Amino acid sequence: MNERGFIDFRSDTVSQPTAEMRRAMFEAEVGDDVYGDDPLTNELERVAAEILGKEAALFVPSGTMANQLGVLVHTQRGQEIILGSSAHIFVHEVGGAAVLSGVSMKTLDFAGDLPELSKIEAAIRADDIHEPETSLICLENALSNGRVVPLSIMQEVYELAKSRHLSVHLDGARLFNAASFLDLDVKEITQYADTVNVCLSKGLCAPVGSIFAGPAALVKRARKWRKLLGGGMRQTGILAAPALLALLEMPGRLPEDHANAAYLADKLDGIDAVSVLTERRDINMVFFRIDGEAELLKRLPELLAADKILINGQESNGEWRWVTHRDIDRSDIDLAVKKLSELV
Ligand SMILES: Cc1ncc(COP(=O)(O)O)c(C=O)c1O
Repeated sequence: MNERGFIDFRSDTVSQPTAEMRRAMFEAEVGDDVYGDDPLTNELERVAAEILGKEAALFVPSGTMANQLGVLVHTQRGQEIILGSSAHIFVHEVGGAAVLSGVSMKTLDFAGDLPELSKIEAAIRADDIHEPETSLICLENALSNGRVVPLSIMQEVYELAKSRHLSVHLDGARLFNAASFLDLDVKEITQYADTVNVCLSKGLCAPVGSIFAGPAALVKRARKWRKLLGGGMRQTGILAAPALLALLEMPGRLPEDHANAAYLADKLDGIDAVSVLTERRDINMVFFRIDGEAELLKRLPELLAADKILINGQESNGEWRWVTHRDIDRSDIDLAVKKLSELV
């Protein structure tokens, strides 16, 4: 339960900054990041690059901006990028890749959204005057369907990309969740991407911000694009202070969120009308279906909100998604599952 008394399953983005983060924000020494002299932002970018195994890193306001910077630095107008048809960059970023980078998006339907090498290889354009030029492959790990992409798949896609002189951008919004599930250092995952987005404001609890990381020359270009997009910020130390804590202190507690998601899945499965999609339960997300009257299902978010339990509505494919994070413990889960079982 968060400080306002809500049990909020809508996403891990709703997780609130810790008391330590709020204190660090209050005490942050600040400069002006557009002048490059905000000390905590510089420190954050240095530490992030080191943790992610990249030459340089850039603090940006959101994961969406970090992903769009990835597309911007790897492409030229008229080129094409390859990505899964459920990729956040394609589905949830307002078509930004087409608007900002002027690229077309070649989307591929992968079984379970796990990248399939043969489909990617077949989608790389030939050297033909009629076709756009392929320049970038975008991967996501963890996937927003709750699964983690095995390292071997990342490696084979990266090797294919390099053999065809293509770049790879990794949308690692939940990279630390993936690393925790795979029991790997994040560097072992990021070695298979040229650039990476990592969100600090999801399960890691920072109030704001993502990291874009990669080779120094590309991060330099991304810094300029960030300015063009209006993302050059000033006294960013106030945001870098909690972001540093997110990066350094919070990855270690993600297994707790994953274990709570397993607990939630188990409890939900105990309700007759509910069936949990267990094969997609790798991280802090539980997907399930509810067998019930359409009218009742439509009203579920409103009915649970009366008890300060917040959920998203049913997704267009009929699934429900509940997400665990630091502000949800097992007693919250017990209470929410009890309320849901009473309703369905
Ligand atoms: C897989 C994935 N990528 C990128 C983002 C974008 O992050 P932001 O909301 O900070 O723009 C999200 C946000 O939920 C996400 O789930």
